[in-house]
Amino acid sequence: MTTEPKLRLDRVSKHFGIRGSDERFTAIENISIDVADGEFLVLVGPSGCGKSTLLDLLGGLTTPSSGRILLDGEPITGPGLDRGIVFQQYALLPWRTALHNIEFGLEAKGLPKRERREIADHYLELVGLQGFGDRYPHELSGGMKQRVAIARSLAFDPEVLLMDEPFAALDAQTRESLQDELLRIWRTTGKTILFITHGIDEAVYLGQRVAVLTSRPGRVKTVVDIDIDRTSADVRSDARFREFRHHIWSQLQDEVARAQHQELEVAAPAQKETAHV
Ligand SMILES: Nc1ncnc2c1ncn2[C@@H]1O[C@H](COP(=O)(O)OP(=O)(O)OP(=O)(O)O)[C@@H](O)[C@H]1O
Ligand SMILES: [Mg+2]
Repeated sequence: MTTEPKLRLDRVSKHFGIRGSDERFTAIENISIDVADGEFLVLVGPSGCGKSTLLDLLGGLTTPSSGRILLDGEPITGPGLDRGIVFQQYALLPWRTALHNIEFGLEAKGLPKRERREIADHYLELVGLQGFGDRYPHELSGGMKQRVAIARSLAFDPEVLLMDEPFAALDAQTRESLQDELLRIWRTTGKTILFITHGIDEAVYLGQRVAVLTSRPGRVKTVVDIDIDRTSADVRSDARFREFRHHIWSQLQDEVARAQHQELEVAAPAQKETAHV
């Protein structure tokens, strides 16, 4: 029996126009990957390889230049409450307090005020921000803002969570506790999660599968099944965990080197030519 994937990326490419030029810039090229219902998929890849571009496409904020993106078999035509996005840059409404930011999606769902407040309080506590509900975004640190954004995306209970380096700005302790919290939420709710990170440890710890993207233009280089026992007390120290970490690290290393080479080419083509003479 075949079950329909929750998300299907079918030969998706995205080009951007280059300002002041007729040329096009290919951010991602021919990406095909299925995400099963309830799966936790992690995406890693060098900076600039198109990860956030891909997330914007899945969020319905932009449209592919070619290829199709399907959610439950239907093309994505725009943003929707079925998908919660945590952006790489905190996207809070500056004129709303932390609590009111979390309540935002619940208003769109039409929940009554008391229920909204209860849910928002719960998620504020979950991300360790009890007592900060009345603060405005400019009164919060970067990590705190990101935690509010995470609480907001969880609070309205979307089927699919799209998370773009959500824990990157947090201290190690908070990061690890939110990773565990996210795994707990994922296990209890069966949400489908697509999670972007630069942290190889984080990728192996969270992902059932880790997709490694190539440097610009982003393509799927390899997809690794992470088959480890996460119930052991210190899973990060297990031999298998370290094997997976090393494998993904070496897959990524080539791509990061390629990306740096590309950057040099863009920044200083003339110098590079002379350097090669
Ligand atoms: N709206 C846009 N117009 C033109 N180019 C864009 C646009 N958005 C992204 N790009 C380019 O597409 C490429 C991919 O960008 P993207 O933000 O998706 O990378 P990323 O993999 O998320 O990088 P990082 O790991 O640094 O967050 C970059 O070269 C970027 O400059
Ligand atoms: Mg990005």
